[in-house]
Formats: sequence, C-alpha cells, structure tokens
Amino acid sequence: MNRPAKEMILVLDFGGQYNQLIARRVREEHVYCEVHPHTLSLEKIREMAPKGIILTGGPNSVYKSESATCSPELFKLGIPVLGICYGSQLMAHLLGGKVDTAPTSEYGKTEVQVDKSASKLFHEVEGTTVCWMSHTDYIAAAPAGFEVTAHTPVCPVAAMENEAEKLYAVQFHPEVMHTVQGKVMLKNFVYEVCGCSGSWQMGSFVQETIAGLKEKIGAGRALCALSGGVDSSVAAVLMSKAIGKQLTCVFVDHGLLRKDEGDQVEAVFGPNGPYDVNFIRVNARDRFYARLKGVTEPEEKRKIIGEEFIRVFEEEAKKIGTVDFLVQGTIYPDVIESGLGNSATIKSHHNVGGLPDYVDFKEIVEPLRLLFKDEVRTAGRELGIPEYLVSRQPFPGPGLGIRIIGDVTEEKVKIVQEADAIYREEVDKAGVKGLGQYFAALTNMRSVGVMGDGRTYDYAIALRAVMTSDFMTAESAQLPWEVLQKVTSRIVNEVKGVNRVLYDCTGKPPATIEFE
Ligand code: XMP
Repeated sequence: MNRPAKEMILVLDFGGQYNQLIARRVREEHVYCEVHPHTLSLEKIREMAPKGIILTGGPNSVYKSESATCSPELFKLGIPVLGICYGSQLMAHLLGGKVDTAPTSEYGKTEVQVDKSASKLFHEVEGTTVCWMSHTDYIAAAPAGFEVTAHTPVCPVAAMENEAEKLYAVQFHPEVMHTVQGKVMLKNFVYEVCGCSGSWQMGSFVQETIAGLKEKIGAGRALCALSGGVDSSVAAVLMSKAIGKQLTCVFVDHGLLRKDEGDQVEAVFGPNGPYDVNFIRVNARDRFYARLKGVTEPEEKRKIIGEEFIRVFEEEAKKIGTVDFLVQGTIYPDVIESGLGNSATIKSHHNVGGLPDYVDFKEIVEPLRLLFKDEVRTAGRELGIPEYLVSRQPFPGPGLGIRIIGDVTEEKVKIVQEADAIYREEVDKAGVKGLGQYFAALTNMRSVGVMGDGRTYDYAIALRAVMTSDFMTAESAQLPWEVLQKVTSRIVNEVKGVNRVLYDCTGKPPATIEFE
C-alpha cells in the first residue's frame, strides 16, 4: 500500500503488550503512525524519514544476549526517539547507562514525581502524576549527556532525556489510559519534540488509499470475499470507490448468520445498494446444514464450515475466471496475531477475510492492514457505510454453527437467531455501555418447565456479555438485572422451543468469549 502521509511517526515493536495502542494514540493526535518490527533496517528507516521514532515495551531484560535490540546508530539519525519501558531501558543500555533488576518491581498505578517541569515531554503535566508501571528492571543510572526528568520512590529514573539530541525515555506506559496524562505526553512528543503539524485525518487516509488502489489496480480485476463484517465491508467499499465494477464481491450465506444479516448485506452491496460493484450472493445454507448433520464436536464443526466455505467460494471464483487481485479485510491485529504463531491453538479461527491461495489471482491487496478496529470503523463512517454495518460486533467466521452446542439443525439455528435478536435489541434499547461483545448461544441442555398448564421439555438459551479491550482476556459484564429479566421474559415467550434462560458469568480465562 502506498504510504498515505508524508509526516509519520514510526513505532518499533519490541514485543510489548500495548504496542498497538501507541500507534493508535499517535493517530488520535492526527499524526500518521506505523508499527514495524524492531529489526527494521536503518536504511529502511532513513528511507521512511519518520518525524519521530517510538521504541515500545517488551518482555525481556536488555542485558540478556537473546533480547530484542536495535542498532545504537538509531540514536544518531537526528530523528527524535521516545523509549517506553523496555524501549527506555534499551536506550539507556545502548548509550552507556546502567540497567538493573529493580529491588522491587513496580506494577500498576504509580505516582511519578516530575523533576523537570520545563521538559518538552512534560509540558502541561502535573508535578505529581499517576502513571502505569509494569517492570522488573529499571534504569539505575542514565547515560552521560542525559538528565533525569522524573522519578518514583522505587525508580530513580522514571524518565530521562537528552534534549539536544532529542532523545526521551519513560519507564511507564503513556499509551495506556491508567497513565492519567499519558495522552498529553505523547502529544507533547509528537508536536513539541518532533514538530509534527498534525494534518492527518481518517478522511485523508481514505482518499489517499482510494487513489493508491486506483493506481495499483489499473484496469485489473479484483475479487473480494464479503462476510458482512466490518473489515471486509470497509475493504470492499474502498475498492469499489477505487475500481467500481472491476470488483466482484462474493458473499457466501452459510445459513449460520444472525437474524436478517444476509439481507442486510445484500441491501448494501447488492444491485439496489449504493455501491457500483458486482455482487454475488451464494445461498449455500442447505449444503452447510447437510455437512454439519450429526456433528457435535466444536473443532470439527469449525473445520467443516471453513472447508465448505472455501469450496463454495472456489466454485464461484472459477465461474469468474482469473482475477488479478484478491482483496482481504486483514487489519493490524490480524497481522500481529499471525506473526506470533507460537501460542497454543485453542480454536482454529476461520476468517472469511483470510482465504488461502486456492483462487487464481496474482496478488493480494489488504487496504486496511495498518489500521486498528476502531479506526476501520471510523474509515467506514467516512465512506458513508450504514452505521449498523460499521458498528457491528465481532462475529466469528463459523457463525452460529459454533454458538449452538451439539449438532446443528435448521430448527436450532432459528431458535438462536430469534433469541439473539431479542437480546441484542433489548441491550441496545437499554443503552448498556462498555460491552465488548454480547450474544445468545443455544446450550444442548433440555429441561422440564411449565407453561400455561402444560409440561415443557425445551432448550436453555445462554446469554453472554463481556467487557474486553483486546479479546484476549475478558470479564463477564454485570448487566442490569431488569435488562436480563426483560430479555428472559421475551425469549421464553417469543421463541418456541426455549423454556429457560441462563447468564454466563465466566470470564476469559478460564472460558472463551464464544460459547461453543
Ligand atoms: P474466543 O472465543 O476465542 O474469541 O475468546 C475471541 C474473539 O474472536 C472471535 N472469534 C472468531 N473470529 N473467526 C473470527 O473471525 C473465528 O473463527 C472466530 N472464533 C472466535 C470471537 O467472536 C471473539 O470476538
């Protein structure tokens, strides 16, 4: 992808947990920002000519030989550098300071004493300010030429700087919201230290990306697997604005979508919608149901749905013939996740944005690969995509197939669709804020109930609502009891085949967010 802005901040990734947040915070200040691995060569960095460089946190100790590092030359490029946590220790270590194991680790909210209020980094920051610490090592002595600009009772160098060389370092994490004035500090780095002008807006990203795609694709043809999710929808609209009818979107309706979802996608991308694209909806419901018949094991269901999806898509692609480009809605967290690859497989994720190379195409285009989820949503709004598509919750590729415990049948799909629609409607109506994801799942449990004067022996619906910032961990949300009561009463009254509603109070870990 063409780099959409000349003025940019480069984040070098040393493996910390909050790296994605740093880039996002910088972009929130209207400065374009990209995250790259710490191994990025000096030559490449010079070529990119960033206005500033941020070194992220990381899990290691700088003095271990296998630890991630960078060239000391990085600090001599004349480009301002801000080291955060591990990045700050690395700066100290490589420039001749001393890094040691701290006598006590600091973890969590910590009061930091600013020693140099005139520091450009601490412009408009209080003398005592609460910051988020998470470290076992610390800078015991700053390198020559550096001034200590903040400390804590444990940490003699909570921040340091060499103003003349434009090198800054903070032991804490300004990017996390627990650092009360972290936003101000990052803003100060970007504007006061790096001298950025802050002209970047999502609108510029959108316009420049469209122009870049137009140039790249030329007269070529592109194919996009559309799931109706936020990422593939935004990618498809960007492409349609760039190349119009040269794009074909294939939407595989596997019959495991939420209530009315298939029609909603068609209303936007189909022939009566606002976009000038070729749209193919494949109603493959029966095929999927047939293949899932009698299958109860969740991983097997995932595999079957994934495989069948590919088969259907492939058949459609063959009808279209060779295309030049395959469009994928990959976003930045996907790039990072696929790069890690050494954690245990809990579930095999199927993502309709991520198809293997079985389709005849020359190149993959991923117009969103540098954006975070909420930025993709902002881009979507910028492009005029309807709000209900833009603000959609995450929805797994295998859809309701994995929100039905046990075997999948048409009847069960209908039950979970109806219950889920009621649940979402009531939660939305009640205006509950701060939920990361909420949905209904169908347990495989049937139990006795009484309705009217008769005995029932029906299914139990499980409601789930979680709060999460990264979907790696989550807490069960404390939904207002009135909302749960209303939803329960509506579900048992309106959805045939359900006589009990349960609320899942489990966090992740030990459970997962999906209920499968
Ligand atoms: P879990 O259940 O693993 O879910 O805690 C974490 C997040 O990932 C979503 N998820 C998926 N997304 N394809 C996807 O695109 C999948 O196969 C898939 N499985 C889970 C889940 O909805 C949650 O947001």
